[in-house]
Amino acid sequence: MKAQLTRPELDSLPSYLPSPIPLDGSGVPQVPDAARLALNELPFGPLPGVLDAVIRAATGSNRYPDMAAVAVRSALAGHHGITPDRVVTGFGSVYLLELLLKAVCEPGQEFIFPWRSYEAYPVVAVGAHMRPVPVPCSDGVDQDLDAMAAAVTRDTRVVLICNPNNPTGTAVTRAALTAFIDAVPDSVLVVLDEAYAEFVDDPDVPDGLREFGDRRNVVILRTMSKAWGLAGLRLGWLAAAPEVAEAMRKLLAPFATSTFAEVAALAALEQEKEVRRRVEYITAERARMFPVLKRIAPRTPVSHANFFWLPMRDPAAFAAHCKAGGVLVRDFPEAVRVTVGAAEENDRFLELAATEGALLAAGAGQ
Ligand SMILES: Cc1ncc(COP(=O)(O)O)c(C=O)c1O
Repeated sequence: MKAQLTRPELDSLPSYLPSPIPLDGSGVPQVPDAARLALNELPFGPLPGVLDAVIRAATGSNRYPDMAAVAVRSALAGHHGITPDRVVTGFGSVYLLELLLKAVCEPGQEFIFPWRSYEAYPVVAVGAHMRPVPVPCSDGVDQDLDAMAAAVTRDTRVVLICNPNNPTGTAVTRAALTAFIDAVPDSVLVVLDEAYAEFVDDPDVPDGLREFGDRRNVVILRTMSKAWGLAGLRLGWLAAAPEVAEAMRKLLAPFATSTFAEVAALAALEQEKEVRRRVEYITAERARMFPVLKRIAPRTPVSHANFFWLPMRDPAAFAAHCKAGGVLVRDFPEAVRVTVGAAEENDRFLELAATEGALLAAGAGQ
């Protein structure tokens, strides 16, 4: 028998899948005709100033970036009215989550998160040698904050709320979140993953950074990948208590914020008005799509993000039907997730979703 060379916990994790969207020789996605509604990306090109900043930075690409990423940390801090010592940046917020777990947890301690939620959570838990504790969402979509608070034990180190939740699009209210944070012991870190915060327009759903960010045991995860349109350049960030941020920075992979990510984020932060305009476009499209989607998949919850969750009978068949019609969506065992894209992409999706094959897969009318 061959000796096992890797950690046995990794055997049950899903393997890395190549992107369904092929790249050309220069790394540019080449799907001229398909609508990419599978990855919760923004459909727009770079914000004004971003491309110029990246091209200018390319002239210095033989040089390492600023290890401490001072400029972008200061800019993010200034933008959100916090101090730079509380900000950590890196190549995506998912990397920062794993780093946070490594910085605060002993091996074997518990990481509680909602389920179904973002697929990276169980993976980063294993990466950080923690015990993943998924807590089922009620009705399969709403994070059950009472059950999550009740799941906290002496071994719990971190509890995460994803607000709005990927992939269901649902959000927890200010009242529920306040009660939850008050109920969790001060020694347990509460992480609010707010990757989609910019798309929230319901006044009952809080801005966690503004409303809870000052609490010592609260950590806010944010990203420039979604509303700010920098997914390919990789810039995630988090706000934490200074001592937590400091501990994380000691563990950061060297140069975890590339020069390109840094200059692009600095240029993007100058474009808040345009970002708001783009977000309003998406939320208007979201409102337009919702009643149509309810007819196709009646259990679709209200979305607070830039995607919809469509519970249905045969998600794989529905996704295959969409792909054959030139629209890429993401199927899960119990539902399909579709990103709100540009109006013409959304129209294509709605048309396809209303054809006989799709309706059959969705189980509409049953
Ligand atoms: C809830 C949630 N958090 C974090 C991320 C990762 O974002 P980033 O691109 O900053 O790693 C995603 C990406 O889809 C997400 O859905």
